[in-house]
Amino acid sequence: MNRILITGGSGFIGSHTCLHLLSEGYDIFVIDSLVNSSEKSINQIKKFFKEEKNKVLNNLRFFKGDLKDKDFINNVFKVAQKENNPIKGVIHFAGLKAVGESVSQPLLYWDNNVIGSYNLIKSMSENDCRTIVFSSSATVYGSSSIDLLREDSTLAPTNPYGTTKLSVENLLKDINQSKNKNWRIAILRYFNPIGAHKSGLIGENPLQKPNNIFPIIINSAFTKEKLKVFGNDWPTEDGTCIRDYIHVMDLAEGHLKSLNYLIENDPQLLTLNIGKGRGISVIELIKTFENVNNISVPFEFDKRREGDVCKLVADNSKLKSILNWSPTKSLEEMCKDGWKWKNLNPKGYSEHN
Ligand code: NAD
Ligand code: UD1
Repeated sequence: MNRILITGGSGFIGSHTCLHLLSEGYDIFVIDSLVNSSEKSINQIKKFFKEEKNKVLNNLRFFKGDLKDKDFINNVFKVAQKENNPIKGVIHFAGLKAVGESVSQPLLYWDNNVIGSYNLIKSMSENDCRTIVFSSSATVYGSSSIDLLREDSTLAPTNPYGTTKLSVENLLKDINQSKNKNWRIAILRYFNPIGAHKSGLIGENPLQKPNNIFPIIINSAFTKEKLKVFGNDWPTEDGTCIRDYIHVMDLAEGHLKSLNYLIENDPQLLTLNIGKGRGISVIELIKTFENVNNISVPFEFDKRREGDVCKLVADNSKLKSILNWSPTKSLEEMCKDGWKWKNLNPKGYSEHN
């Protein structure tokens, strides 16, 4: 079976994508420095296959190491080659993603996200692997006021995190123009991934205090501490901001669809928004979470968050037409699965082996 390298595979989106690829029979190599995750997510994936599928995994290998170390990456490619099953493609999740931290420590972000990606791409080239799916973000569009963001909308990130994502996109565009025309590249700009695998065995496990709304809603439902809704004076129906939430398992599936599309088609660079194309307000998200889980989420209105954007929603028509696929899981499933993960793992991975 095709061997795929997943960088950042023990993180939130990476672990769900690993589980999905394994379910589809792929052989997986995972690289992660564990700077923002725990190897326990990998153990939980093994547990899922053992307990729910009665299967001991022998097609999942974990390599702890940092993309800043090119020799380490090369070594992982060599391990695969020695086994006569070279890495066929890469899904590149590894990166730091805290917007505020990127503002206070831009060099850390350039070093980790840009140099790390550069090392990976160079190593891929040296090892004749030219298929890559890259995790970009809606953050590259900046504070756009457009109703639905298209892939060709203006790119204007407003913080170093966004700048590093756009820089890697640009590097990949240059590579695609190079004299070696064999690159197959997908740049996926995701909107707001939330939820967890329906087993409740893996989920989002932020090591730092979360800034994103969904883990904050979960904590608030759990501890009954009031969350702050940033602004109720936005020009929207209920006055709160609108985002395009997508179930993390839909996102995982989107990665595999993209990878297969690249493998089955001519070399190319493909840029896709991955979102549901439906705007949800903060209040709608909170109310849905309360209703499906029959639990209260205490909140209060606060002033607007600095740098916030009123509305970020994907135009996902390109995704639908090219991959012939679109995300299907409902907001209710996102809320239900996220809450199940919290209830089964109140302290995240720290209570697992
Ligand atoms: P995450 O922090 O849970 O996962 C990222 C993983 O990469 C972590 O396990 C971390 O330990 C690892 N990592 C970071 N730098 C590394 C390095 N130099 N070498 C090796 N491993 C390294 O984050 P996530 O939410 O799963 O996001 C995955 C990717 O998707 C990131 O690139 C992020 O920027 C992007 N993204 C995330 C979101 C979101 O809302 N979660 C939205 C858009 C884009
Ligand atoms: C944030 C990041 C963005 C990143 C995206 C997905 C910022 C400025 N932007 O965007 O770069 O790509 O996450 O990881 O951090 N909200 C509250 N109360 C809270 C937290 C959030 O009301 O305590 C609101 C926000 O105002 C926003 C919505 O919830 O309207 C979603 O916020 P968040 O989860 O941080 O995502 P983004 O703002 O889309």
